[in-house]
Amino acid sequence: MTLAHDFRRVAELLRPERTRYAIGLGSLVVINAADVIAPLFLAVAVDLVAAALTSATPDTPILFGLVGLDAARFSVVDALAGYLVLHLAANVCRYPMLMNVVVPSHRLGQGIRNALTGQFLRLSQSYYDRARSGDLMSLATNDVHASRMMLGPGILVGADAVMIVTFVTGVLLTLSWKLTLITMVPLPMIAIVTNRLSHAEYDRFEDVQEDLAGLTERARESFAGLRILQAYAREDFDRARFGRFSAEHLAKNLRLARVRALFIPTLDLMFGSATALVVIFGGAQVVRGEIGIGTFVAFLFLVSYLSGPMIGFGWAVSLMQRGRASLRRIDEMLAVRAEIVDAPNAIDAVGPGALSVRDLTFAYAGPPTGDDAPTTAPTATPRTVLHDVSFDLAPGASLGVIGPVGAGKSTLTRLLARLYDPPEGTVFLDGVDIRVLSLDSLRRAVVVAPQDTFLFSDTVARNVTLAAHPDDQAHLFTRQACLHAEVDELPQGYGTMLGERGVNLSGGQRQRLAIARALAADPRVLVLDDCLSAVDARTEERILANLREMLHGRSGILISHRVIAVQQCDEIIVLDKGRIVERGTHDELLAASGYYARTAAEQAGGGAS
Ligand SMILES: Nc1ncnc2c1ncn2[C@@H]1O[C@H](COP(=O)(O)OP(=O)(O)OP(=O)(O)O)[C@@H](O)[C@H]1O
Ligand SMILES: [Mg+2]
Repeated sequence: MTLAHDFRRVAELLRPERTRYAIGLGSLVVINAADVIAPLFLAVAVDLVAAALTSATPDTPILFGLVGLDAARFSVVDALAGYLVLHLAANVCRYPMLMNVVVPSHRLGQGIRNALTGQFLRLSQSYYDRARSGDLMSLATNDVHASRMMLGPGILVGADAVMIVTFVTGVLLTLSWKLTLITMVPLPMIAIVTNRLSHAEYDRFEDVQEDLAGLTERARESFAGLRILQAYAREDFDRARFGRFSAEHLAKNLRLARVRALFIPTLDLMFGSATALVVIFGGAQVVRGEIGIGTFVAFLFLVSYLSGPMIGFGWAVSLMQRGRASLRRIDEMLAVRAEIVDAPNAIDAVGPGALSVRDLTFAYAGPPTGDDAPTTAPTATPRTVLHDVSFDLAPGASLGVIGPVGAGKSTLTRLLARLYDPPEGTVFLDGVDIRVLSLDSLRRAVVVAPQDTFLFSDTVARNVTLAAHPDDQAHLFTRQACLHAEVDELPQGYGTMLGERGVNLSGGQRQRLAIARALAADPRVLVLDDCLSAVDARTEERILANLREMLHGRSGILISHRVIAVQQCDEIIVLDKGRIVERGTHDELLAASGYYARTAAEQAGGGAS
């Protein structure tokens, strides 16, 4: 992508804040103009002092002459007052300058962050199967920051540098073109060195950033795996793994630090040489009487103004480059099309909740490819997880799904709510292909309580209702899920914080919270994916006894490894390796003496606690 493209993109980003940016950059013009004219007053003051000693007349700077000022009619106090007033004006303008560029840049940064968050929420689960969370985190933090730095300080410092160099050069030329040319001799060198170093700095910085994304991901994984490693006393495993990455990261950071350490001293040295040239040649001109002592002083002042912007310019260039790269990554992310979206003429699901699955065959997309995939991994082609699955679920009816691990039971549930997309013409809700239904209405109608649930760092009440009901209604759902008594015993009841920064729940409690959460969503089709596997037999019985109440006015799909959990269902299907191998009622399946009957016998014979 070209510079022009990036330029247009930045212009488009800035558009909503253009008035503010105009005010900010306008203030910058005033500041810089005041800053470069102020030394002229100083020159007059110096000349006046010198004139008092030698009875010479002071030089009138050309710019003063243009506006009709005559240095000879100034007093030293006038000249110094002029200097101070300009200085004051410049500093007063710094406030509107910062407020009108830096503040809007934060707003623009926030806009980018919100757009990313919206996109993260939109993307489908299949995307996250392939993405690295470290990359996503780095996008939302580092890249947003770098974009913001480009839009705020980058633009400001860059504009400042260009403006100062132009203004200073202009004023210097009016003072003495000869001396100006001499002073400018080292400038091309400075520009080249700045450019080189800022490029090197940029490349190395990018390297570090990229690495940081990987490192963040490793760190996250380490935290997640900590319990396991401690339990197995295998901390060394992670130490070695993380240590390697961390050492590489250190090396990259040192490479960056080295170029940064070179940058400023080199520039400083080169400016020292420019100043030396002014002193040598300017001093000679003063001695020869070609320029006044005031002009000489003003020259020194103005040349010293140049070093800041030159360094600033290098910084601005690297901010811009970083920002461009980051913005491009962000734009790439924003351009990712969510795989699962509303069809153009999506309609809302309104029926009573009759589900019908027709010859459903499904395979997950292949594993992630790219530099991060271990090279030893077999090149797996997408494996079919469900084969020709068909069943009907009438409104208000219940379906049991039983089968060994990895049979595809959870996969089936994900397809019903379009968490992954089933092929067209395979899943129908109330006679309508679910791919034609609006996602929102479908996911309100069909709710899956998943096998592993996630606890948000929030209260029990809000974890149950996900803010869809007032907090004081949460108990309605936990009661049905047989969790109420245990919540009541928590330190702050329904106000107890859960999740990462709060209380952790037992496996069985989490499962029941998942059920309560699904009930709170009040779906027309309730799918419980193995939600009773971690509860004791008595709790299981109590929940199953509540089932009629839970399924009141809705259809239900119960998934389990255990016969007891599905035996009351109107129909039961046995899923094995993605195929329906048996189907019927409990009694029919027992009579069929297949997998179901065998499992029932095993579980009755002591397998079932
Ligand atoms: N996101 C995914 N990407 C790729 N393959 C997957 C994904 N999720 C599951 N699978 C694979 O699909 C197959 C079926 O998995 P699924 O989770 O549906 O089984 P299950 O019947 O629910 O098993 P369990 O009883 O253990 O919960 C498994 O072989 C699994 O490895
Ligand atoms: Mg499962």
